[in-house]
Amino acid sequence: MTDSSQAPKLAALSGPKGVPDYVPPASATFITVRDEFARQARIAGYQHIELPVFEDTHLFARGVGESTDIVSKEMYTFADRGDRSVTLRPEGTAGVMRSVIEHNLDRGYLPVKLNYYGPFFRYERPQAGRYRQLQQVGVEAIGVDDPLLDAEVIALADRCYRSVGLTGFRLELTSLGDHTCRPQYREKLQDFLFALPLDEDTRRRAEINPLRVLDDKRPEMQEMLADAPLMLDHLSEESRAHFDAVTSTLDDLGVEYVINPRMVRGLDYYTKTTFEFVHDGLGAQSGIGGGGRYDGLMAQIGGQDLSGIGFGLGVDRTVLALEAEGVRLEGVDKRVEVFGVAIGEAAGRRMSLLVDALRAAGISADMSYGGRGLKGAMKGADRAGASYALVLGERELEGGVVAVKNLAEHTQVDVALDVDAVIKAVRPA
Ligand code: HAM
Repeated sequence: MTDSSQAPKLAALSGPKGVPDYVPPASATFITVRDEFARQARIAGYQHIELPVFEDTHLFARGVGESTDIVSKEMYTFADRGDRSVTLRPEGTAGVMRSVIEHNLDRGYLPVKLNYYGPFFRYERPQAGRYRQLQQVGVEAIGVDDPLLDAEVIALADRCYRSVGLTGFRLELTSLGDHTCRPQYREKLQDFLFALPLDEDTRRRAEINPLRVLDDKRPEMQEMLADAPLMLDHLSEESRAHFDAVTSTLDDLGVEYVINPRMVRGLDYYTKTTFEFVHDGLGAQSGIGGGGRYDGLMAQIGGQDLSGIGFGLGVDRTVLALEAEGVRLEGVDKRVEVFGVAIGEAAGRRMSLLVDALRAAGISADMSYGGRGLKGAMKGADRAGASYALVLGERELEGGVVAVKNLAEHTQVDVALDVDAVIKAVRPA
């Protein structure tokens, strides 16, 4: 113990506003969800890509779109000590594109299929399920425009949620068209909007990005927008055929969806297939994941004119959705499988060797420290969620045995004080 009696007591500090800590035991659910999503992506042939959490600010301005809330009001942008403007990544797709171009991954076999996870940063107004540091698992499939690939990406997201036991969500789907039909549609929508009595802000939004006006949640606006023309009714022949192929493949795969022709995503790069996964147990922040095709993005960032499609799944909101559904993931209460309870100094030393040997054999193990008595040490086994306690006291040490307690079944056997014998007892064939 250090002598702090003379030091003045300092006020405790809090974490940054709107940024969650992931502390045990809840962190086990978080990590299980994230790892399971990443595992599903690997199974589907996506390779891991690890990217910087900050990038040159221009990347997001060009990639995500100047008219988006993300770029215009939510970025953590600052000058570094060399006076370069850098930004904490608000999303993953633009950075992946930058890296693919820089490392010539787009010159090899296509599609390039990449997976990433980690923190993203948006200066949003914090509330339940809306954080300033949020966690996503994402995939991007770059370089091939094939509706089968769109269906793969969407089915993969659907499988991710189902693999952690989530069921109360729905997949919403639409097409935002392509460069041949979107400009005409945009004009048509603007003609419609400019004929309405819009306030100044909304009028400005209609000029910059009229699609975003469709997202206006005010009831009087929704009423006025009821007859607005929809992109889905004005698709080019090619975009229509593409979208039909995506939906019929999803039908074949048994992935359920609803068409939402009024979907508005928070990023400007989307073309053609666009989707969102929505969970009704989460209140206002109901989007648990989303994505879509972004056929102009790579060229926008200075690369070849290749297409791409991907998704970002919100890990935080998936965890909240699991809670809302009352789903508890298997194994999250188990810190270790085996817990060593040693009574006395000699037993403690012997136990530390045994625990080390178990770990070397890949069995998760921990032990009591600080010379606790039997009762206190057994409490440690319980807190660790262990399946087995290994009890080693004077009697066992003298007899060359260790008592293996099965904590679920309340049974106990003595086995030889030897790692192989213990492994056999805790891992019955
Ligand atoms: P996004 O829809 O902006 O897409 O974010 C994806 C998911 O991240 C959301 O559905 C939500 O679950 C979660 N999320 C976003 N903001 C927050 C927040 N403030 N707090 C908690 N969770 C949040 C993208 O980021 C695209 N890059 C996805 C993509 C990849 N599209 C194509 N490829």
